[in-house]
Amino acid sequence: MFSMLLALSALAGLLLVNGQSLIVPGAPWKDTSGNAIQAHGAGILKVGSTFYWFGEDKSHNSASFKAVSCYTSTDLVTWARQNDALSPIAGTMISNTNIVERPKVLFNSKNNEYVMWFHSDSSNYGAAMVGVATAKTPCGPFTYKGSWKPLGADSRDEGLFQDGTYCIPTITPCSAYLLYASDNNQNFKITHLDANYYNVTTVASQLNGATLEAPGIVKRNGEYWLIASHTSGWAPNPNKAFHATSLAGPWSAQADIAPEAVNTYFSQNAYDLPLGSNAIYMGDRWRSNVLGSSQYIWLPLDWSSGSPQLVQADVWSVNLSAGTYSVASGTTYEAEKGTLGGSSRLLTNSAFSGGTAVGYLGNGGTVTITVQGRGTAQWVALYIANGDSSWRNTTISVNGGAAISLDQPNTGGGGVVLSIPVQLNLRSGSNTILFSSGQTNYAADLDKIIVY
Ligand SMILES: *[C@@H]1O[C@H](CO)[C@@H](O)[C@H](O)[C@H]1NC(C)=O
Ligand SMILES: *[C@@H]1O[C@H](CO)[C@@H](O)[C@H](O)[C@H]1NC(C)=O
Ligand SMILES: *[C@@H]1O[C@H](CO)[C@@H](O)[C@H](O)[C@H]1NC(C)=O
Repeated sequence: MFSMLLALSALAGLLLVNGQSLIVPGAPWKDTSGNAIQAHGAGILKVGSTFYWFGEDKSHNSASFKAVSCYTSTDLVTWARQNDALSPIAGTMISNTNIVERPKVLFNSKNNEYVMWFHSDSSNYGAAMVGVATAKTPCGPFTYKGSWKPLGADSRDEGLFQDGTYCIPTITPCSAYLLYASDNNQNFKITHLDANYYNVTTVASQLNGATLEAPGIVKRNGEYWLIASHTSGWAPNPNKAFHATSLAGPWSAQADIAPEAVNTYFSQNAYDLPLGSNAIYMGDRWRSNVLGSSQYIWLPLDWSSGSPQLVQADVWSVNLSAGTYSVASGTTYEAEKGTLGGSSRLLTNSAFSGGTAVGYLGNGGTVTITVQGRGTAQWVALYIANGDSSWRNTTISVNGGAAISLDQPNTGGGGVVLSIPVQLNLRSGSNTILFSSGQTNYAADLDKIIVY
């Protein structure tokens, strides 16, 4: 359930010192060694009270296979990198010139074994296979078993779902299913795994012409909720939800999980982790030309309206024992109330807060906003509109200090506003924040900022 974090300003002041205890979607997430977390296309496995996060290491800024990483955490925020779960093997479908994406791991109680499934492909995505690997420990390293086309048909983006209802651990392994984009990404399939989780057996559901990828399933009150994107390559699209009382369907018509214009807050689903009566949407904000800089967009997926909706949250936290989440509240400063300099000027659009934003930033255009600080590192969310088809960036200087640069995704035309976070050192009391751009073209339009 939604609840405001009590006394957040005091709590956040402590928590933000290490920047680790809050979930800040879109910020650069670091592991406990201070390195960027490289676990794109996430899969989460819980063993006891430990969460394992498997993902694609894209630190080489390439789609080719480098490693399936494995990170551990007990709070979903502080992540320690472990040994790589899967590494390239020359001369196989998992060589470093091939594609290994969206690793997902389940525990198979029959064989006391962890089984990893992943999208296994050639460099031009023409092979369209699944790959399977096994290990006796959660992070492995896993032993590769092979790659093939399930039931002879294509499989590209995939996920796994383990149905906890029909299993008795150590006696009957839980029913598990492969969720995958098949038949040249046209038909979406949900197919039973065998009792070992080594292969598929029979198709449970087929959504013909659905053009879905990046799937996850959450089971809630006996109902199955499929969350998936449509197909637009690395670019984001409005991800959708479908529901059914059986994995065999029939499935409902698709419904939005966020306002369509924001393209799932510029992200694509990777995994959906149950949290109490809700879930955590775990998505990727792909940056196709610098893949290793792709950030993670994790947001509450809330069912209080009856169907799942992403909660727009700049800064939030989970209480795992209660199964709840809390969205931080901050102080809003409208950009148009700041001091404009150079070529910057006011823009009006009903999509902007107060109907107005500051445009023509960069190229000598600036806006200076005065904010109150607490004398610590604080998260500041910039609400921006970037109608370009490519990313921009803005420079930010606090109290006349050195400018830092912040990347700004393209948000789409029509004044679509997205928030992007930056951590700034603010002194106690009044601070000036100057927004401009080092580039000769313009930075995104600035609607408002929220200081947390
Ligand atoms: C998977 O099962 C199919 C039959 O359904 C079989 O043809 C295929 O060889 C199996 N693949 C592996 C890798 O076991
Ligand atoms: C988390 O929820 C539990 C159970 O409701 C509660 O006792 C605990 O105080 C909560 N923790 C925080 C940090 O709010
Ligand atoms: C800002 O964006 C421009 C292109 O719009 C790019 O040339 C420049 O390198 C970027 N600056 C930084 C610091 O990323």
